[in-house]
Formats: sequence, structure tokens, C-alpha cells
Amino acid sequence: MSGPSTYKPKPGFETWLDQRLPLIRFANDTMIDFPTPKNLNYWWTFGGILAVCLVLQIITGIVLAMNYVAHTDLAFQSVERIMRDVNFGWLLRYMHSNGASMFFLAVYLHMARGLYYGSYKAPREILWILGVIIFLLMMATAFMGYVLPWGQMSYWGAMVITNLFSSFDQLIPGLGTSITTWLWGGFSVDNPTLNRFFSLHYLLPFVIFAVVALHVWALHVPGNNNPTGIEVKSKSETVPFHPYYTVKDGFAIVIFLMLFAAFVFFNPNALGHADNYIPADPLVTPAHIVPEWYFLPFYAMLRAVPDKLGGVLVMFGSIGLLFILPWLDRAKTKSMRYRPIAKQFWFLFIIAFLVLGYCGSQPADGPIVLVAQIATGYYFAYFLIILPLLAKLETPKGVPTSISAAVLSSDKKGQ
Ligand code: HEM
Repeated sequence: MSGPSTYKPKPGFETWLDQRLPLIRFANDTMIDFPTPKNLNYWWTFGGILAVCLVLQIITGIVLAMNYVAHTDLAFQSVERIMRDVNFGWLLRYMHSNGASMFFLAVYLHMARGLYYGSYKAPREILWILGVIIFLLMMATAFMGYVLPWGQMSYWGAMVITNLFSSFDQLIPGLGTSITTWLWGGFSVDNPTLNRFFSLHYLLPFVIFAVVALHVWALHVPGNNNPTGIEVKSKSETVPFHPYYTVKDGFAIVIFLMLFAAFVFFNPNALGHADNYIPADPLVTPAHIVPEWYFLPFYAMLRAVPDKLGGVLVMFGSIGLLFILPWLDRAKTKSMRYRPIAKQFWFLFIIAFLVLGYCGSQPADGPIVLVAQIATGYYFAYFLIILPLLAKLETPKGVPTSISAAVLSSDKKGQ
């Protein structure tokens, strides 16, 4: 991709192909010879892990779709049939449902890495923005996927989330109701809703795939950031992607798959909700409607605001903020390693996000609401007040002159 190509095709077929469609050159320059900073740590393996998650979700999803029936009368039964009668259907389903959880676990770690090492800053703003788009697409895909088994949580989860749009009635009377009716394809969550959710749930992963291609393209123009946040200054500060990072990423992928397998084979329903094994019933509302764990922090923000429209705006705003993050945090030093004060606030941010997750899992009453409000306030303050202020006020400490200087000094410390 960026920089001059290092590929030298062998005479014969390789040269012939290279002059017509330089596919091998492309693969070589992106995955083999690609110059990668020599100091990447394990937080940089999550991109590769995410790529594996995406491919696994697409493969298991396609085979599940061969046996799934998108109709309100048959969806629940068809999933039970997959679990009991389809060869290895249980494995496919458990891989797909736990795979979604693993995907979100990896994406949250990948994003937290980006926040810590300032990977969203120039010259990687577009790379970051594409990431936020992927995150939104992932959320939409997972939400619609959860509706498909047509259990109680599927139905009521869909009801709660689609109903959010009715809050726009507060802005223009009738607007919200029209949007919800349009989304549902009727006057309630029903068969047309299930059908369009299935269609979109099948489509969106391919859209994600395309945006991931752009994401990786945008990565290969400036190249990787690294734990020091200092840009590569000479070729000696890089190593070829293969074999150095193919092996390191491969190792991390194996460890990650072991965790994944532990869930699939030993506790496949641990992350799900028991109520989703009850067929959807529009006449019986579950005592507590809760989304999957990966949506809980955003669900808590939604409920932290007493006003319905306010809650919706806060929830969408919390992700919307990420789009402008590169312009909110103008600090020159990227990595929190050298930003002692910002680092503390980053840790607090992670804690606030986890606290929000806990609040989202609990009934919204008593002190939980207050705690969620404080954590929501901190979430917004981190991006809108703390990072912009620290960019002006904080003096970074001990920033090395180059990646090589950083690596050599940590070598000395290790001796
Ligand atoms: C399907 C989901 C995703 C896939 C497959 C993916 C893939 C990758 C890969 C392969 C890399 C390079 C290796 C690495 O740094 O780990 C990368 C880097 C990066 N990704 Fe993602 N990504 C995904 C989602 C996201 C999201 C949601 C964000 C942020 C909102 C994001 C932000 C970044 C950034 C800032 C980098 C540059 C890291 C650096 O060089 O320091 N990515 N991504």
C-alpha cells in the first residue's frame, strides 16, 4: 500500500499476473513486508483478533441462516430445531451467539487501546472515524440478531429500542410515531419487523467487512501508531509484518480462541438471558427487560436521564462524541505513558464505563439511577472538558526522542 512496493515477482506466472492484476504484490505489501513499529505490545493484537471474529460470525451466520425461518410462528421452533436436530447446529448457534460477545469484548479492548495510546490523533483521524462507523454497524447488527430467535427478550428488547424513536414526538408531534410505524412495518413489532431485521442482519456484516477494508487501508497509509505514540523516524525502527507480527498475532488469536471455546463448550448460556428460552409473548412483559451485556453501559445512560428524548439524545450523543474526539483532544503527546494526569483520568473513564455496565444490568430505581447519572456525567466530562483542558494544562513527562530511544532505555531498565 503506502510507500514504494518491495515485491519482486518471480519470472513466469507471478510476473504475468503482476502486470495484469497485482494481487500478490498487494498481499505482500500489506501483510508480509509491511513495515511495522518494532515495539508494538499485545494490545495491538486485537485488530487481528477482530478480523477473525468477523469471519467466524459470517461463516457460522450463513450456515445458521440455511436452517432458520424468519417468521413469527416458526422462528423460535426453527432455532430449537437447529439446537437439537441439525448436525452440529448447537455448535453453530453457540459459536455465533458467544462469538458476538467475544467480538464486543475484543472491540472494547481495541477502542480502549486507541484511547490510551492516542491512536485517534493525527494522522489517523479517518482510521478512527471508520472504526466508530464499524462500532455503530456492529451494534445495529447485534441488536437485530438478538431479535431473530423470537424469545421474550428478543421481542421486548426490540419493543423498547424501536419505541425510543417515538420520543421524537416531543420535537414534532407525530414524527416519532411515524418513524416507529415505518420501522416496524406495522403497528407493533411483528412479522414484517422480524423479516426486515433478518434481511438487514444478513446484509450488515458484509457492509462491516467493506468498512473494515477501508479501515485497514487507512491504517496502511500512516502505518501503525505504537506504545510511545512517537511516529516512526527510520526504517530501523520497524520490522516486517511477517513473520514478527503474524506470529505474535497468531499466538494472541489462539489464546483468545481458548477463552471463546471455554464459553462455547463449558458455559454457553452464561452471557445470555434465561427469558430468551421462552417464546415471545406480546401479552406478558418480562419483569426486567435487559439487553445483552455489551449494550449495558449505553442502556444505563439512556435510563439515567428522566426525560425520554433526553435519554435517547444522551445515548446516541455518547457515541457521536467519538466522531469528533480527534478534535476535542488537541494534546501533542499521543501516548498516556507520558501524560501522568491524563492517564489517571483514563483509568477513571474505564471504571465509569464498567460502573455504567453494572447500573444497566440492575432495575432502574434507588441509588442505581444516581450512580448512573454520575458515571454518565463523567463519561461526557472526560471528552468535553477533561481532555480539552489537559491538552492545554498538562506537561508531558519523559517523552523519548524516538521509538529506538524508548526501546533502548526500557532495555537498560530490564537489565
Ligand atoms: C470489525 C471491527 C474491527 C476490525 C476487524 C479492526 C481491525 C483493525 C486492525 C487489523 C488494525 C491494526 C492492528 C491493531 O492495531 O490492532 C486496527 C487498528 C486500529 N483500529 Fe480497528 N478494527 C475494528 C474496529 C475498530 C473500532 C470500533 C475502532 C474505534 C472506534 C478502531 C480503531 C482503530 C485504530 C485507531 C487503529 C490504529 C491503531 C494503531 O495503529 O495504534 N477499530 N484495526
